[in-house]
Amino acid sequence: MEVVIAPADELAVLAAGTIDALLRRKPDAVIGLATGSSPLKVYDELARRHAEDGLSFAQARGFMLDEYVGLPAEHPERYRNVIEREIASRVEWAADRVQGPDGLAEDLPAACAAYDEAIAAAGGVDVQILGIGTDGHIAFNEPGSSLASRTRIKTLTAQTREDNARFFDGDIEQVPTHCLTQGLGTIMAARHLVLLATGKHKAEAVHQLVEGPISAMWPGTIMQMHPHATVLVDGAAASRLQLADYYRQTYASKPAWQGL
Ligand code: F6R
Repeated sequence: MEVVIAPADELAVLAAGTIDALLRRKPDAVIGLATGSSPLKVYDELARRHAEDGLSFAQARGFMLDEYVGLPAEHPERYRNVIEREIASRVEWAADRVQGPDGLAEDLPAACAAYDEAIAAAGGVDVQILGIGTDGHIAFNEPGSSLASRTRIKTLTAQTREDNARFFDGDIEQVPTHCLTQGLGTIMAARHLVLLATGKHKAEAVHQLVEGPISAMWPGTIMQMHPHATVLVDGAAASRLQLADYYRQTYASKPAWQGL
């Protein structure tokens, strides 16, 4: 696991640069998309590269991490709509090349199984962008999630609904209680995991993710088992890392030609 500590703008350039390099060597790459605040600067940078440097998503495929259950199709906070607004429409990514779990399906377990199959049929995810919840979730694998789980329905914790109320006029009652989420096993099958976290409120989750024992209580800790995991954090999110100086020193001495 590589840990990079840098200001948020630099982290976004690093993550976008990884996707840029991937798309230029493999135009039909499969990109895993997160919602929430953490990836927004990455999406801004990708949109800029699309507009100014000809970065093309035309042949790429996108798979979202998760979706709320039951939000109406036109709801602005439905994750498929968020992804359309924040990245897909800005890089002219055709709607049928970006998929998310179907939170409006009549048969939710069948929709989850079909989603895992669709990811596998596309050849698996090349780069998966991730954020982390203050309770340690990645995607919506809340504490207690099976470390081998596949896409399935989950109940959101009170903490996550409180954290996400800011997207719903500050009203926790409007935040759905359930979601469909890629499982930890699904996420671990991606070839490169790139997690972004900024702000002091993420410091404990980041400490556990990188330095804690692997445990379903901090679901992101499963990333310690991944052969290619990159954790991009700003100084505030890194503030509880015991080995922060070591991570800084390691990254500073990394040869410039070596990407993430
Ligand atoms: C969203 C997702 C979540 C968020 C996490 C952090 O698709 O999977 O795991 O990444 O809740 O959210 P933000 O970035 O808003 O702090």
